[in-house]
Amino acid sequence: MSTDTVEPTQQAESTEQFETRKRDHIRLALSDDHQTHSLSALEEYQFAHEALPDLNFDDIDIKAECFGQTRETPFFISSMTAGHPDAININHTLAAAASARGWPMGVGSQRRELGDANAHQEWQALRRQFPNLSLWGNLGIAQLITSPLADIQKLCDALEAEAMIIHLNPLQECMQPEGTPNFKGAFQALRKLCLHLPIPVIVKETGCGFSTKTLIRLAQTGVAAVDVSGLGGTHWGRIEGARATGDDKRARAANTFKNWGVTTVDSIANAHTANVPFALFASGGVRTGLDAAKLLALGADLTGFAQPMLAAAMNGEQAVIHLMDALAYELKTTLFCTGCANLQALKENDVWL
Ligand SMILES: Cc1cc2nc3c(=O)[nH]c(=O)nc-3n(C[C@H](O)[C@H](O)[C@H](O)COP(=O)(O)O)c2cc1C
Repeated sequence: MSTDTVEPTQQAESTEQFETRKRDHIRLALSDDHQTHSLSALEEYQFAHEALPDLNFDDIDIKAECFGQTRETPFFISSMTAGHPDAININHTLAAAASARGWPMGVGSQRRELGDANAHQEWQALRRQFPNLSLWGNLGIAQLITSPLADIQKLCDALEAEAMIIHLNPLQECMQPEGTPNFKGAFQALRKLCLHLPIPVIVKETGCGFSTKTLIRLAQTGVAAVDVSGLGGTHWGRIEGARATGDDKRARAANTFKNWGVTTVDSIANAHTANVPFALFASGGVRTGLDAAKLLALGADLTGFAQPMLAAAMNGEQAVIHLMDALAYELKTTLFCTGCANLQALKENDVWL
């Protein structure tokens, strides 16, 4: 995510500092201390068990539509890392698995590419190896506000991106010593991007979700999809708090805000209240196929996984594929045990206890 300085007295971040920060993020994201699954509220939703489903498990269909394409599953890899040597291996592993299973993959923030003419090579190499992979670009809102449209187009071109994600992370920008908590002009910048970019624009949070009010405003920007990425999984207040050693003010604030956010479940409910016209993706604390089923039943079109994919990627491509298959199996099991032949039925039938 973003890296500019907040305080004028601070030096611009060096390449070495950038890479250390990205490594810290990966290491800290893997720790349970920075997860909020107990706050996800997913346990409050229970499906009614159907003991007599009139179905053959093998016929259960979990295909989903997204941006005019039919996908084998309603799953995607949520944006994580980019622009440093460790990211190349991680992204290669994730891309290989995503390509094998037909999952779209959001890339990590492409901010580095805005100022480094060589940074896009990471993606060109990946694209050559996985020509059919659906890649979604990624940039923070603070960088969108200050970047010409032509630069955003270049980021998309480097990836041959199917869609462009703009991430919103106000809490992290406040907590991060290198943060850019200046979102002035964000709404107009999003509107302009949606108007001119020839591919769909996705707006996402990074673990703090969305209120009804914000979703209503986003409906006026022309975004194609919102990934609510709510509270219930990786929490950036906690991660930046763990990085804030020697900075009492930020360490204290990170503790104060350690449970901050709207849950993924509530964010999806808010989108219904707002009657939004865009596609709805649910990430943030989705850890099992059953979690995903709940969010799909509540109205999400796709569900995304970040931290679990990162953890699996540490053990290689086969571990990621194994997790992907387990998630699909759990989703199919939920459909069978609720008597739903497909995701449409899961949304339309009376499935709750
Ligand atoms: C190591 C790591 C790096 C991340 N970097 C980005 C990023 O660059 N851009 C972005 O939009 N989200 C980023 N995220 C946020 C995730 O896409 C996701 O919104 C969040 O982690 C919640 O999902 P989870 O609970 O499944 O981890 C990152 C997450 C992790 C774990």
